[in-house]
Amino acid sequence: MNFSRLNISSKQAEGILLRLYNLEGSAWPLPGEMDFNFKIQTLASNDYILKISRPNDTLELLDFQQQLLQYIEATGSHLIAPKVVQDIYGKSLSEITDAYGHRRHVRLLTWIPGRIWSDVNPQLDDLRFSLGKQFGLLTKTLQGFDHDMAHREFVWDVAQALWTKDHIALFKGEEKDILSSFLEQFEASQKPYALLRKAVVHNDANDNNIIVSEDLRKPTVKAAIDYGDSVYTQIINDLAIACAYAMMNHNDPLDAALPVVKGYHSAFPLLEEELDYLYITIAMRLVISVTKSAINKIKEPDNKYLLISEKPAWAVLKKWHLTSMAFATYSFRWACGYTAHPHEEKFIEWSESNTFYLSDLFPSIGKNDIHSLDLSVSGKWVGHQEEFNDLALFEFKINQLQKKVPHKIIAGGYLEPRVLYTSSAYHKIGNSGKESRTIHLGIDFWIPHGTPVCALLDGEVVMAVNDAGDKEYGGLVVLKHARGTLIFYTLYGHLSVKSATRHNVGDLIKKGDIIGLLGNYPENGNWVPHLHFQMMLSLLDYKTDFPGVAYHRQMEVWKGICPNPNLLFKLRPLDQKNSVSNNDLIRYRKQHLGKSLSLQYKVPVKMVRGSGQYLIDQYGKSYLDTVNNVAHVGHENYGVVKAGQDQMALINTNTRYLHEYINTLTKELLETLPPRLNVVHFVNSGSEANELAIRMVKAATGERDIIASEFGYHGNTNSCVAISSYKFDSKGGQGAPEHTHIFPIPDAFRGKYRGNNTASAYADEVQRQIDKVRKKGRGVGAFIIEPIISCGGQIELPKGFLNEAYKKIRAAGGLCISDEVQVGCGRVGKTFWGFQLHDVAPDIITIGKPLGNGHPLAAVVCTQDVANAFANGMEYFNTFGGNPVSCAIGAEVLRIVKQENLQENARLIGQFLKSELKTLAKTFPIIGEVRGQGLFLGIELVDSDLNPLPKQTDYLVNRMKDHGILMSSDGPSGNVLKIKPPMIFTKANAKDLIFYLSQILNEDFMKSGNID
Ligand SMILES: Cc1ncc(COP(=O)(O)O)c(C=O)c1O
Repeated sequence: MNFSRLNISSKQAEGILLRLYNLEGSAWPLPGEMDFNFKIQTLASNDYILKISRPNDTLELLDFQQQLLQYIEATGSHLIAPKVVQDIYGKSLSEITDAYGHRRHVRLLTWIPGRIWSDVNPQLDDLRFSLGKQFGLLTKTLQGFDHDMAHREFVWDVAQALWTKDHIALFKGEEKDILSSFLEQFEASQKPYALLRKAVVHNDANDNNIIVSEDLRKPTVKAAIDYGDSVYTQIINDLAIACAYAMMNHNDPLDAALPVVKGYHSAFPLLEEELDYLYITIAMRLVISVTKSAINKIKEPDNKYLLISEKPAWAVLKKWHLTSMAFATYSFRWACGYTAHPHEEKFIEWSESNTFYLSDLFPSIGKNDIHSLDLSVSGKWVGHQEEFNDLALFEFKINQLQKKVPHKIIAGGYLEPRVLYTSSAYHKIGNSGKESRTIHLGIDFWIPHGTPVCALLDGEVVMAVNDAGDKEYGGLVVLKHARGTLIFYTLYGHLSVKSATRHNVGDLIKKGDIIGLLGNYPENGNWVPHLHFQMMLSLLDYKTDFPGVAYHRQMEVWKGICPNPNLLFKLRPLDQKNSVSNNDLIRYRKQHLGKSLSLQYKVPVKMVRGSGQYLIDQYGKSYLDTVNNVAHVGHENYGVVKAGQDQMALINTNTRYLHEYINTLTKELLETLPPRLNVVHFVNSGSEANELAIRMVKAATGERDIIASEFGYHGNTNSCVAISSYKFDSKGGQGAPEHTHIFPIPDAFRGKYRGNNTASAYADEVQRQIDKVRKKGRGVGAFIIEPIISCGGQIELPKGFLNEAYKKIRAAGGLCISDEVQVGCGRVGKTFWGFQLHDVAPDIITIGKPLGNGHPLAAVVCTQDVANAFANGMEYFNTFGGNPVSCAIGAEVLRIVKQENLQENARLIGQFLKSELKTLAKTFPIIGEVRGQGLFLGIELVDSDLNPLPKQTDYLVNRMKDHGILMSSDGPSGNVLKIKPPMIFTKANAKDLIFYLSQILNEDFMKSGNID
């Protein structure tokens, strides 16, 4: 029938409402596949949904839906579902005759306020869990309900999905192959599938049928609506449908489905045999969906609603086809609290009564004791990336260790998180950013190449291949073992290619037979010789390879598939792990460490390794660091590490002895500075540098009054806090001390004077403070400021301000200090030091954070006049400042900055990033301003009245962390994102940052509030 003759207008709907329900209200059309639906808003606060059927709709079907809803209401459960409203005649199902004389059925249901699923962004694990839980609860509530119509023939019933076979001709190529393979699999499983538990279920958890709460940060599913597809079918089908939709638009559909499964199971416990069919029923729901779309495209080409989910359905179906059914099933089992592999317990039982000896595996070695080797991310033996990637060095270390433990075999590694796997095959982009395979699934035995590896028990060869490539297995043999109904596999990796490939699949190997000889690099996958020995209860779909390392997110499932090989050997040292949980660390820290120490992020992270612009947690997850301007030339830069290690091995004393390095570092520093700044004092922190600068001011001017900026921060010592408005004007602070004089922060965006040409206005504010000091009968000691104010919110000083301010200070007899602790050493790109951006000549500069690349090294550089005045006879002694180790490190940092052109990198990448951020600001008005220089940038988040948005900023920082990007916020209102990464930050890093920023900026909470 012509769609326009079926359609009902809003006006008509309002008329029907008045006639049948005596309700006055406005009607808004809503999407619907069968019914014509309207949201009804009445003057009273109750809202409704009016549903007008198509002319040919069956009364029984509508009756079924009404009865179902009434059943839910009658159970008195707390489940939220639409309630049936009776018409003025007391009927729950009414009738009208439309303009074309067709009889149409009408129903009125209560409206459930909230957001529909498809409008919710992001859809995180907790939300997907609540989705599963809601549908599980619904199934539970409907137990005992039945209706004739629940047993109808129905195309959307997964159990009846084989009708789609008749339409396979609508597809071709890859799509046809995918559909055929799922159909075949489903058809083959009909018998056992038919025996699964059945019930009346909702059967349509699609995006538009799920109502989510209004909470933008922790949304939960409130209710399921639209019961038009309810049917009596296998209960697992209902969950399959919820999964099928919840998986759409995610990189990793299985990962997205698991919380839904967990949630469903929490409310309605699923049986193991049901979970065996979840993979295929998910696929079949999608098969129905794409088949229906293909048919409908022909039938009703102008009905867009029908096509809404076609594209994402195909996308997820293709990904699902590439997902191992066995792995998915084991994951579902684990999600429901069953053992991931059904034979896990059986295997453990078998292994308890069967013990094997290492001397059987390596008879030529004849040792049975183990020396456990920790190769985990945080294991110190592994050393620096440069070292573990140096095979000769790694081998040398193994040999040295072996000499210390001659009677033991060096071994270990089951479930160990490692960072040894650097080739691209070990990485993917998951549902929230980059993920790396880090969890080692076997045990490594570090023994010489050429060592024969023998069978521990009889087996059949199922793989004997050359798994060629860097960081692969090289020669690989997998044996299958059958013990009654128990089947398991043993894997031998890194054999010589020749010895592995001399076997054929199907060969029988007897206990004690040689499986292969240990290979050497490069043919063993380019490793120091060792045997990777792994056990498996399933080969999944692998034919010529099997993962030896897994993603941390999937660890528990892999643990079930690959049991601990030490179950065979029962060697205690192999099972000893002594890692402390993050919660224990937090608890102890809270009790015994300074109570004002803070922790970054709502869920704190434990970082155990640094690598360039990345930090790595204890599970091997890498985080892109956009915050740390201390790791100036990159975290754990090898040159810096070596410089420190090498010097530490020779001598570390104080400056009372002659040493070259203090002079070397001084020369390196002075080369970067204007000639008038030419005397250096080395100290250990930025605070100490500013502390010393303040002493110098007193010595040189005889005055102690300091003028500083509002929200400036200069350090944690008494004198530094006393000049840091960021501290004394905030929580716990007591305002400015007598000798500190604060002028308004020169912020042209949200400060006292805004827009262009504010330099003089702010310089006049400095003058006001000078006058104040004078009025008290005292003189000005110094003016201290950062060239870009960091803690104050990455505030760029107005052009010309510093010049004017310096003049005024000098006219008053004061000194000018540039605090370069944050911005120095090339970070601002255009110039090496921040003050050079402003073309001024300070009397003292203080240097901190970047100089030691993480080692506590800082410095004060001043003019000869200041230095002479300070040298008044009192010795300046500093136990650690200027020691040879620190100076070796500092000199190496400056050498790397120069040699690797990092100042220029900061300029180029900073420019690119700033312009990309400005483009982002055009799409997202919440970004009020992007500012800064080089790799010292700030993004200020504000509403349309320029009010700060600290909650959104905090949300964004935490969500970026979830995606593996470390960011941090600052500024007096906590609404400025500061970007100050290691100077080796690349364009690709900048693009990643922009990509994820734009994703998170699109999330509901970021769009909440007055930010248009
Ligand atoms: C501008 C500025 N000056 C001085 C300091 C103090 O340095 P430190 O923490 O090394 O004592 C800091 C620290 O954040 C700073 O940001």
